[in-house]
Order: sequence, then C-alpha cells, then structure tokens
Amino acid sequence: ATERTLSIIKPDATNRNLTGKINAKFEDAGLRIIAQKRIHLTPAQAGQFYEVHKERPFYSELCEFMASAPVVVQVLEGENAIAKNREVMGATNPANADEGTIRKEFALSVGENSVHGSDAPETAAQEIAFFFSGLELVG
Ligand code: CMP
Repeated sequence: ATERTLSIIKPDATNRNLTGKINAKFEDAGLRIIAQKRIHLTPAQAGQFYEVHKERPFYSELCEFMASAPVVVQVLEGENAIAKNREVMGATNPANADEGTIRKEFALSVGENSVHGSDAPETAAQEIAFFFSGLELVG
C-alpha cells in the first residue's frame, strides 16, 4: 500500500552539507519527498518529539544533539514507505548498517546517525502531525 513516513536529516548530516546526497538516496529508492522544511529545534522541542525515549540513558544527549544545528524534516511517500525508508537508512548503529545504506555511508556513530525514520504506521502519523499540517503535504 502507499504509505507516508516522517524522515529527519539530523544535525551531523546538515553540518556536512549532505542533504542533497541523502535526498538522492530516498528518490533513487522510489520515495517521493512530498513535504520538506529546514528548522532549528530547541532542546525542549526535541525532547517532546523523542518523548518515548525519555527514560533512556541517552535521552538528554539525544535532545541536545538534535538541537545543536538545523535539521531537515520531511515526509516521504511511496509503496511500503515506512519499511522502504528503514531499508535505505540502514541499522541505527552504523557499525551494523548494510553497504549502500545512508547510515553506512554517512553516519558517524549510533547517536550521530544522520537520519531518523518512523518505525510503524501509528508513529508515522503522529510524527508527521508533529511537524506538518495537512496543507503542507503535497502528494
Ligand atoms: P532515531 O531513529 O532517531 O531514534 C532514537 C535515536 O536515539 C536513534 O535514532 C539514535 O540516534 C539514538 N540512540 C540510540 N541509541 C543511542 C545511544 N546508545 N547513544 C546515543 N544515542 C542513541
């Protein structure tokens, strides 16, 4: 089925001018970027986005990192977009990521791992609504 998923190009990647190279990976995989904006999150906004992780030991580090520089938030649309995006991203830890994936090519560490992607349809809907209004999704 056609799905939509929320993607974030993280500060380590925007700092290194990798937005275009990462977007090319999405488009080459058949994912369409139907919404996109560059924003600079506050630590509190990052904390709200990652609320499910608030008990994890890396939560404050994660929030500080996500607020350290601009991010590009985007909605990707396509056949099985949630799983397809996770394939293109590769494993969370770049040490475990397959050849050709975004994290294998660009990620610096498990924290500075260049991209975020929604993990399921319910979280995709929530995460898209966190950043975008319906009017901003141009499929
Ligand atoms: P993401 O898909 O954005 O969702 C939660 C993030 O937490 C994850 O990617 C990682 O970047 C980050 N993360 C997971 N484990 C660790 C860790 N051990 N140390 C720092 N950050 C982590």
